[in-house]
Amino acid sequence: MVQLMLAIPQPDGAKTVVSRISETIKAQIAEGVYPPGSRLPSSRALAADLGVSRTTVTAAYEQLAAEGYLEARQGARPQVPIGLRVEQPVIRQGIEATSPKRLSDFGQRLVGLPVHHRPKADVPVADFRYGDLAASDFPTLIWKRAVDAAVLRRPSRLQYGDPSGSSELRSALQGYLWRARGLRCDPDQIIVVNGSQQGLDLCVRLLVNPGEPAVIENPCYAAARDVLLATGARLIPRVVDREGMCTDRLPPARLAYVTPSHQFPLGSVMSVSRRQDLLAWARNCGAYVIEDDYDGEYRYESPPSPPCRPWMEPGTSSISARCRRRSPPPCGSAISWFHGR
Ligand SMILES: Cc1ncc(COP(=O)(O)O)c(C=O)c1O
Repeated sequence: MVQLMLAIPQPDGAKTVVSRISETIKAQIAEGVYPPGSRLPSSRALAADLGVSRTTVTAAYEQLAAEGYLEARQGARPQVPIGLRVEQPVIRQGIEATSPKRLSDFGQRLVGLPVHHRPKADVPVADFRYGDLAASDFPTLIWKRAVDAAVLRRPSRLQYGDPSGSSELRSALQGYLWRARGLRCDPDQIIVVNGSQQGLDLCVRLLVNPGEPAVIENPCYAAARDVLLATGARLIPRVVDREGMCTDRLPPARLAYVTPSHQFPLGSVMSVSRRQDLLAWARNCGAYVIEDDYDGEYRYESPPSPPCRPWMEPGTSSISARCRRRSPPPCGSAISWFHGR
């Protein structure tokens, strides 16, 4: 059932309550709140919600049915006819409030970014989309049991937790990063976020002012580039080849965002000499290196390549790395974590 969100306009003297209710519902049907085929609340429920009599709501529904906006049947909630076609109202209340003119500089930069839509093909002939889970391989029942058990075990589940993420999870991640990626860090250096973009957005907003330069791979992960552009960073794109991002003559910058273990989208692994160049550059100009370790541990034929971070001389520069894990609902769709020094 579509939830009722009906705000009856303030009394304007000229209109009856019945026509105010029917006009509001008409506008909601036109804007897709109640799409064709959906059902409205029963007259009893709507009357209780609005604090009016049931006769008033029934009269409003009858008016809408007479105009063809609803089909009413004895004993069933009124339905928006399946074949109903209504023109979208051209001017909608509140559009002015979201006009780019009233947005902050950050908001205007966001509005200017391209929206990356997924193609809407119903049944693709071949699905080349990356990043989705192979649903049939996932141990859904085992996962569900584990989630249920964890929820029942944790009496603190209704309280606000540590904003950095649960300490148990961060300790488990510390062990994983050491084991799988050779990264030694303290759980306090790890922050759990709900996706790579949130992690990157936090880092970039903390480290880069609008107009300051940031080095990025070309081609690169589009969502990361959008985060940098939204922050107002001035991008310095660097070509990628078989050895990863080219590091010769890098100009000074606030940071570099790189995918050295598995370049996205070309897949190359950054060579040792380029890693050394990159870290020397970061040391010399005081830049941060944000190392996106996405899928860094997946390799078919050779052991995974290590991240750059363990190579860094202590105290010379700062680096954050992140990885990600996905899980289906009910546990949420994605978590990411990053750590830095
Ligand atoms: C380089 C890179 N980082 C991050 C992501 C996505 O990470 P998340 O699932 O945390 O949004 C992708 C997805 O393709 C990626 O290619």
